Formats: sequence, structure tokens, C-alpha cells
Amino acid sequence: MTPAGAGICFDGVGVTYPNGVVGLRDVSLDIEPGEMVVVVGLSGAGKSTLVRSINSLVPFTSGEITVGDVAVSGLRGKALRRLRSEIGMVFQSFNLARRTTVLNNVLMGRLYAAPTWRTMLGLWPASDVELAMQSLERVEIVQKAYANASELSGGQQQRVAIARTLAQQPRVILADEPVASLDPPTSHVVMRDLQRINAELGITVVVNLHFLDLARRYGNRLIGLRAGEVVYDGPGADADEKVFESIYGRSLTAEDVLDTPARLT
Ligand SMILES: Nc1ncnc2c1ncn2[C@@H]1O[C@H](COP(=O)(O)OP(=O)(O)O)[C@@H](O)[C@H]1O
Ligand SMILES: [Mg+2]
Repeated sequence: MTPAGAGICFDGVGVTYPNGVVGLRDVSLDIEPGEMVVVVGLSGAGKSTLVRSINSLVPFTSGEITVGDVAVSGLRGKALRRLRSEIGMVFQSFNLARRTTVLNNVLMGRLYAAPTWRTMLGLWPASDVELAMQSLERVEIVQKAYANASELSGGQQQRVAIARTLAQQPRVILADEPVASLDPPTSHVVMRDLQRINAELGITVVVNLHFLDLARRYGNRLIGLRAGEVVYDGPGADADEKVFESIYGRSLTAEDVLDTPARLT
């Protein structure tokens, strides 16, 4: 049984990198348990910094982030590992082990729960294998369980990466430009997977995107970042050309949309 999604609260969060570059500036946001939000902005706007600060991969330098009822700033050691075990991450680059099976890749998601010598030998408990297979089923790729990860297309690899985070039974999934390496039809498949997981399991989902058409379509709640600041927070459907120009700080171009022709209403 997957635990219910956790809320995420940003309270005046700032990130200044050691070289002095500001990644986030005074960000305050309340993401409800079980909500799905899309974060959009140009390259360099702070999208990756925002999602990475949630599990302290990037330390924030002011303010506070709360996940569920846990304040992130003071976490070290075991408490930090526990938080990270509750947060699944999906990246642009899939990050699969390519020389082993899809099933073994998904089982890696269980390492947080069972980091013992048994797993090193591939002796996974039957319950973990069952959970891994269910996770593959949820992204409709269970028939590839015994294929080698390197045999899969990009879209299939990303779905396996999503299944791996599901096997972790997370309360939050952070997806950092998960479709940036995929073609348009496959991008929609992966975005719909994330939507379905959010709706069916109640896992809180934060997805970074840089294409405005995808952001509008999948962002029931859309957060626009510009130079580290939140400049829009509202329904994607309400975000018109003017809104996107204010998020991007310039007029829109064909490069800003995934599917052509662009249809902005
Ligand atoms: N490790 C880092 N060290 C210094 N500056 C960084 C680092 N990571 C990101 N930045 C800077 O922080 C800003 C936000 O970057 P990032 O969060 O990666 O944006 P996005 O994901 O929207 O492209 C950019 O100016 C970027 O150059
Ligand atoms: Mg990024």
C-alpha cells in the first residue's frame, strides 16, 4: 500500500550557489498532498534548483522547506536518507543500468527499503518482485520485464525509470524535464503516465518542463519561474501568450513548443 502523497511547503526559500549565482529568490509555495504541479521556465530559470532543494540535493541558503511534517533544513544522516527514500526522482537522462534487465532496474527502487547483502546477490523478497512487476504494469511495460534495459527505446526507458520510482513507494515524485529527450508522441505518453500515477495513487508530483504547450496541457496548476522567482502560479488553461511572455521574458518562438503548429488560445 503506497502511503498518501506529502504536501510540500516553500517558505521564503532562497538558494545562492557557492560561486554567488542565485538559483532561487524568496520562493513561497504551498503544494498540497496529492497535487500535481508543472514548473515552467527558460533554461537557467531555476527549475532544477527548485526540485533538487526539496530533497536537499541542493542546500537552500535561506527560508525553509517542509515535506509532510518534516522541515528539510536541519536533516542529516539517517533522517535525510529517510526523506530521500520517500521522494522518487525522474531525470531527462533516464539513468538506467543498461547491462541488466528491466526488472532488476525496477528492483533498485527497493534498495532504500532492503539494503542488505541479499539484494547484492539478487535475492529479492518475493514481495519486492511482486511490487516491481505491479509498478511495470502501471506504466504498461510489464511485457519488457526480462528484456535488457539497453534494448528499449527512450520512451520505454523513461517508463522503466518511472516504475523504479514507484517501486520505492514514494510520497512525492520529482521529475526534472522527463520528456526533454523524447519525441512529441512519446512525450505525451510519459506525461499521461505521470498524470495517471498522480490520480490513481495520490502521489504528489512536481514536473519541470520547458515547452509551453506541454506545460499548459498538463499543468492543472502551473508555476512559472523566471530568474529564480515565481512569476506565475495558476491554472495552465489560464496561461495565455502574455503570461508565457512574462515567464520567458521575451516573445515566444517556435522553439518554445513541442508540437507544431503552435496553438495558443
Ligand atoms: N551547481 C551550480 N553551481 C553554480 N550555479 C548553478 C549550479 N546549478 C545551477 N546553477 C545556476 O543557477 C541558475 C538556475 O539553474 P537551474 O536550476 O539549473 O535552471 P533550469 O533547471 O531552469 O535550467 C542558473 O543561473 C544556473 O547557471
Ligand atoms: Mg534544469
